Amino acid sequence: MEKTEKIWLNGKLVDWKDAQVHVLSHALNYGTGVFEGIRVYHTPKGPAVFRLKDHVQRLMDGCKVMGIDLEFNGKKYGKQELIDAIKDTVRANGDKVDYVKPCIFLSGEEVGLNPVGVPASMAITAIHMGAYLGPGSSAGAKLITSSWHRPDNLCGPAGAKVNGSYVTSTLAKREAVRQGANEAVMLNSVGHIAECTGENIFVYRHGRILTPQSAECILEGITRDSIITVARDLGYAVDETQVTRTQLVSADEVWMTGTAAEIAPVTMVDGRVIGNGEVGKVATQIHAKFSEIVTGKDPKYESWLDYVN
Ligand SMILES: Cc1ncc(COP(=O)(O)O)c(C=O)c1O
Repeated sequence: MEKTEKIWLNGKLVDWKDAQVHVLSHALNYGTGVFEGIRVYHTPKGPAVFRLKDHVQRLMDGCKVMGIDLEFNGKKYGKQELIDAIKDTVRANGDKVDYVKPCIFLSGEEVGLNPVGVPASMAITAIHMGAYLGPGSSAGAKLITSSWHRPDNLCGPAGAKVNGSYVTSTLAKREAVRQGANEAVMLNSVGHIAECTGENIFVYRHGRILTPQSAECILEGITRDSIITVARDLGYAVDETQVTRTQLVSADEVWMTGTAAEIAPVTMVDGRVIGNGEVGKVATQIHAKFSEIVTGKDPKYESWLDYVN
């Protein structure tokens, strides 16, 4: 990946090379951190962060679940301070920035699992990501069904972006890449469709849009929420429900949603062609509306944009 100029670390913008942690930091050894992925779009009013308040709220909720206090270098941070820090980091890294990754993690040096009293740090990185699933993926991604299950709510907080929980996603992603696919879809512990390694999933079948409901052990994606709203505003019926493998494979259209992947149409699952094998009309229409919204061309959704300057 391309390096950028500055990383925000515990209240200061430091050079990329100086953003370091100790090898014994608790988070490195046990995954005790919470992170976010947030898109920055270019609009006529300058760079805008998409649904920044919602991302910061999810980050804070994740820290609450993990018991991590928002205190770095002796200073307490609330929602507004986190928003300001993210905007400062975007501003410090120039026009190419399109993705921000804040991470709050137990940085104290510790051997042993007890997280109580271990100091936390916060780092915010702003980079250029471009097309997350690769340049060809807009013409239709290939999915496999992973042999790894999406961890359920008895294994950890499935609804929080906890660093350690992403081991399963990386195993599933490796499985997909090794089989020549772009992404892997994971089932939950009762065999329903849950989500992909870093995206939620949608199915268009029999004239309705279906997506796994929150209790199916998914991350409640902010793009997922945006697409449900946009699809309903466009007149589609959207059901947040249980989705089966049969419904997925026999769908007219399938697409993934995520901050990094945005709206990514799927044309093949486990070697089976979805619909007619081409990017479908519904995904195309919703994607076009989403692109207008994020680039500030639809005033109805203006409240989703947080301008940086
Ligand atoms: C496991 C997982 N599911 C879904 C998503 C999509 O969520 P969002 O749209 O908020 O980026 C992500 C990305 O954050 C993710 O990591």
